[in-house]
Amino acid sequence: MRTVFVNGNYVDENDAKISVFDRGFLFADGVYEVTSVLGGKLVDFEGHFARLRRSLGELEMGFDMSRDQLLDMHRELVSRNRLDEGLVYMQVTRGAADRDFAFPPEGTPNTVVGFTQSLNLLDSPKAKTGISVILADDLRWGRCDIKTVQLLYPSLVSMQARRQGEQGAWLVRDGFVTEGTANNAYIVTKEGTIVTRDLSPSILSGITRKAVLACADKLQMKVEERPFSVEEIANAKEAFTTASTIFVMPVIEVEGKKVGDGQPGPVARKLREIYIEESLKNAI
Ligand code: PDD
Repeated sequence: MRTVFVNGNYVDENDAKISVFDRGFLFADGVYEVTSVLGGKLVDFEGHFARLRRSLGELEMGFDMSRDQLLDMHRELVSRNRLDEGLVYMQVTRGAADRDFAFPPEGTPNTVVGFTQSLNLLDSPKAKTGISVILADDLRWGRCDIKTVQLLYPSLVSMQARRQGEQGAWLVRDGFVTEGTANNAYIVTKEGTIVTRDLSPSILSGITRKAVLACADKLQMKVEERPFSVEEIANAKEAFTTASTIFVMPVIEVEGKKVGDGQPGPVARKLREIYIEESLKNAI
């Protein structure tokens, strides 16, 4: 049984309650963060906190937990659940109020929940074999830079991938890849340049993306932040994807076609190794 966090309290998961009037439930009026845990420590907590603040700001949502309080909550969840490796999920909504499209009165308390999930992050079998992804139209809304809990379209696309026997999906708008359903997308060109879409409202500014690009820079790999087309994938040497839940994951097949030689490539492998090394060093 897990201990979860609900509005200031740590309770057994079976005793956790939120209102049926919660705006997260009725309007997907909430934001979230997923922070990975290695050896019982949080990876890039500061990055996740900064992005949470940004998401809240973009939605004009008040939030009265400080950085230190949120850090305590994360640590407390890790410790109470004896989590060694996995993630902490946390979500903030605009709270519970009579159903109305307009925001509730100022001062309506947020709903804040948090829980842990155990995961094999370091020794992931998929990281060794690589994954295959499908391509799907990106039919999400225009503010994918805000990490909202409005995840129905990514969920539908993930299910489509699953039904086709594939492990993930990359989203495409106007012939160019935006990102994965829950990760950022990259190719490595024949010349060895890493290409990933530049930051804009079309994608989420991944915390792992930022760290991985810093690793690439450190390794003096060439990086271009720009959209890449579906045709460019066919000519790429490698592809990979990044997120807190998968770190750096090689992509060996896209829409049924092998990428490069159809094996996890050296760039993805090296970046994964260095990213893990840095994360183990810097986790708090
Ligand atoms: N998803 N793009 C999207 C659409 C995402 O949902 C995520 C993360 C990322 C990668 O962000 P980060 O590197 O900060 O995890 C990119 C989380 C893990 C999820 O929804 O489970």
